[in-house]
Amino acid sequence: MERTLIIAKPDAVQRGLVGEIIKRLESKGLKLIGMKMSGLDETVLRTHYAEHVEKSFYTGLEQFMKSSPVVLMAWEGFECIDSVRTIVGATNPRQAAPGSIRGDLAIGVGRNLIHASDSKANGEREVSIFFENKELFDYDKSEYMHLYEDFERK
Ligand code: RTP
Ligand code: MG
Repeated sequence: MERTLIIAKPDAVQRGLVGEIIKRLESKGLKLIGMKMSGLDETVLRTHYAEHVEKSFYTGLEQFMKSSPVVLMAWEGFECIDSVRTIVGATNPRQAAPGSIRGDLAIGVGRNLIHASDSKANGEREVSIFFENKELFDYDKSEYMHLYEDFERK
């Protein structure tokens, strides 16, 4: 099963939308395998956003991500990277589809509520940046037989 790192960004915490984000991912049938609140510093942000550090928007992004605590989550599910990106919506919330988190709840690109990993490799990489193994939980989700066919549960 794939893993994705979700960050409920400072705007989600400040606007009281963390529960709404969790609700949408839970309702999809994804499995929450780790969660904690944390303040992010420059070092961890530069590691997490390695592909963006040279870009013009990075300074503002880093400043914003340090502006208040975030909620870090690791979620698991069959091909969950793509399905979560669909639930999250386009980077620019003004172009995000209605029904998506960003499409329904955000307006500004730099205040788009949520981070979600964009590939299987980045899902593994990002979960390991923010979570130690002992903070990740391996457990049976009783509803899986009603969410997946056998081959999808492997
Ligand atoms: P994320 O990484 O947060 O899940 O979002 P994403 O894949 O949709 O967007 P990405 O291209 O990875 O950019 C990371 C975050 O940087 C901010 N951004 N600002 N002003 C700009 O042009 C711009 N472009 C990106 C956004 O907050 C975006 O989520
Ligand atoms: Mg990204």
